[in-house]
Amino acid sequence: MTDRKGFILWFTGLSGSGKSTLAQYLTPILIERGCNVEVLDGDEVRENLSKGLGFSKEDRDTNIRRIGYVARLLSRNGACAITAAISPYTSIRDEIRAATEATFVEVYVEAPLEVVEERDTKGLYKKARAGEIKNFTGISDPYEAPENPEVTVHTGDESIEESAEKVIEFLAGAGLLPN
Ligand code: ADX
Repeated sequence: MTDRKGFILWFTGLSGSGKSTLAQYLTPILIERGCNVEVLDGDEVRENLSKGLGFSKEDRDTNIRRIGYVARLLSRNGACAITAAISPYTSIRDEIRAATEATFVEVYVEAPLEVVEERDTKGLYKKARAGEIKNFTGISDPYEAPENPEVTVHTGDESIEESAEKVIEFLAGAGLLPN
């Protein structure tokens, strides 16, 4: 264990809401502020740690518990673990929050469905609407928005700088940034 205060920056939001983009944008800023940063990105985790898992509730829960477990290990050793997975279920997010030894900071990356569907960065919403992808979050599968997140960013009408600033302000206020 180190003296450094680690934390988990837990992003949750629909596919295409901007979780990964915000995580990437924040990484150099947090490094500059003295944090040791690791990003656990949904798509990357599914290529590695969670390869073979699908999108049933059971598989998503397994995926999220794995991400939570790694994020806990990192954060309790002083790192800043940023997670960027949809993590649609409140109960699992709360389970990880309760188990986290370091500080758990939930960030709701909010964007209306119309906006993410219009962006459709990966072309998946179109496929989900056409019924080619089943159980797609927001279309044919639930997304449970956090009720009391530490930070909410609205990527539909904020610039990335504004969204990032909200996160940084919270972390600074909580005394989590060394510099
Ligand atoms: S989570 O529900 O387990 O947290 P995760 O963030 O890892 O999801 O993966 C979501 C990504 O997988 C989406 O951004 C999208 O690219 C892709 N994906 C493929 N099928 C689905 C689906 N049925 N629902 C949501 N995302 C899907």
